[in-house]
Amino acid sequence: MCGIIGYAGNRPAVPLIVEGLRRLEYRGYDSAGVGFVQGGRLNVIKAEGRLAALEEKLAHCPNTLAVTGIGHTRWATHGAPVERNAHPHCGGRSGQEHLAIIHNGIIENYQELKADLLAAGYEFRSETDTEVLAHLIAEGRARSASFLEGFAWALRQARGAYAVAVVTEEEPSVVYAARMSAPLILGVGVGEHFVASDIPAFLPYTRDVVFLQDGEIVRLTDHSWEVLGLFDLAPREKSVQTIQWDLQAAQRGGYKHFMLKEIFEQPRVIADCLAGRVEETSHGAAGRALLPELDALPVPSRLRIIACGTSYHAGLWGRHLLEQWAGVPVTVEIASEFRYGEALFEPGEMAIAISQSGETADTLAALRLVREKGCPVIGLCNVVGSSIAREADAVIYTQAGPEISVASTKAMCSQMVLLALLALYYAQRRAVPGAEAVRADAFRVLRDLPDILEAALPAMRETAQRLARAYASAGSFFFLGRGPAYPLALEGALKLKELSYIHAEGYAAGEMKHGPIALIEPDFPTFAVALSDNLFPKAKSNIIEVQARRGPVIALINPGVELGVEEPWVVPAVKGPLAGFVALPAMQLFSYEMADALGKDVDQPRNLAKSVTVE
Ligand code: AGP
Repeated sequence: MCGIIGYAGNRPAVPLIVEGLRRLEYRGYDSAGVGFVQGGRLNVIKAEGRLAALEEKLAHCPNTLAVTGIGHTRWATHGAPVERNAHPHCGGRSGQEHLAIIHNGIIENYQELKADLLAAGYEFRSETDTEVLAHLIAEGRARSASFLEGFAWALRQARGAYAVAVVTEEEPSVVYAARMSAPLILGVGVGEHFVASDIPAFLPYTRDVVFLQDGEIVRLTDHSWEVLGLFDLAPREKSVQTIQWDLQAAQRGGYKHFMLKEIFEQPRVIADCLAGRVEETSHGAAGRALLPELDALPVPSRLRIIACGTSYHAGLWGRHLLEQWAGVPVTVEIASEFRYGEALFEPGEMAIAISQSGETADTLAALRLVREKGCPVIGLCNVVGSSIAREADAVIYTQAGPEISVASTKAMCSQMVLLALLALYYAQRRAVPGAEAVRADAFRVLRDLPDILEAALPAMRETAQRLARAYASAGSFFFLGRGPAYPLALEGALKLKELSYIHAEGYAAGEMKHGPIALIEPDFPTFAVALSDNLFPKAKSNIIEVQARRGPVIALINPGVELGVEEPWVVPAVKGPLAGFVALPAMQLFSYEMADALGKDVDQPRNLAKSVTVE
């Protein structure tokens, strides 16, 4: 998720924009840039790396006195994190670039649009989807009576998520901006106006904000702001709200912790991870799963998934889908164990290294070992250009945006989306019988999940808060699950351990009778995932075994199920293994509320690092 800021006012814009970008640094980024019109000429200055590199360049620019401009910190999703891909991007025919754009989001149909623009003679300098938007706006301007109409025309061609801001030589004191499925907020000052992806960017200057909605365009000057409909350019009535947050609270989007903010980002993360990866079809048949990064690689005879921690749990979950939907045998390895083992591979096998950070030492070492053995490795990462991403034979990105909280939440959700897509992708490449029906069903569920979670998360949090108050004094917890719910039980236990420092064990529910059930006591509660899948009857009997030994049970169940447990936690029903997308946030919220109830440092738990780059 990139940081964007636009300013139209009466102060020198560039230093104000750079300071605004500095207040967005917590989001993580790999390059930055500013754009402004001065003396009738468009200026774009950008640099790879930190803001200091951009400031170094700006120090050598003649007096940047423009009072209108835009600025951007880039979290790479398309294209390597290098200067040519940094924003702003300029639009227009070669030598006639008169506009600059910054963008947060993902344009799903950018390749099609780029092909049309190339055919029309536009030249490209970067691999980004944003530059496509820049030239599209220039093309729209050429076809329209005004810049505003050209801007709107261009955005109507784009599919996907965007929050954009644009400056143009044609109207040097104006900033245009628009949003579709990505946050964009208007700051209303006195003699100055702001637009940004996040309130911290302009909080020192004004607390009066207008929250923009999807399909709205903004036109800003120093003395005016107007909001128009993207499709009809009709003026929109908007209310101005006053924010009471301090800067820290604003950086967390008003949430108490980054972890809570990132749990609630998961509906958006699912949509962003799917963006551009599900083929659109008009005739109602199931589109294909699109993973062009893997098209040059063969379909593996067996997959070896290698990861650590939460990423390992995502791999265990993905194994179920890859075997069930694609018929590809999978083994899932803990990287720190695998790297010191024999690493025996048969011809045709491939490996997947799953890592949010792309820098986990054990996973990176395992990847290098696999490559030494001559086995191709796919990276499944969140951080573009990370070590694992660079050293893998191919990489697919989760596009989850920066994950600030040490405890991984939205990263696992996005890893699960990619693993589901991978299973569908291999099923179609292997022409598995019935694959199209499975794909149609899975795509329908995946498309519905953001709305399902958006609606369910607030109530889930309330239940988690209530349960945390009731169980915060527990000394130990079991987390139980069967089939695809077993990895989720492991993840639920890990979250409780690392956040609240309460001992917890994740177990395959059917394994309890082989010893662990001896531990059950009234003060040793069990958190069971018992959703209405084919293994529900088995999970139910395991829960009864626990109850027979007077162990209290919290059970995640679907509507209409009667289990007779102390704490039935009803969550929305989702078909098949994708039900994990509903169970996961429930367990994340439970651990979050337990840790918060116990006064723990939720975002920075003791002894933990966000990326374990040492053995
Ligand atoms: C998850 O909450 C933990 N912080 C940790 O287990 C993490 O998942 C693990 O270190 C792997 O990190 P990676 O995905 O960046 O490789």
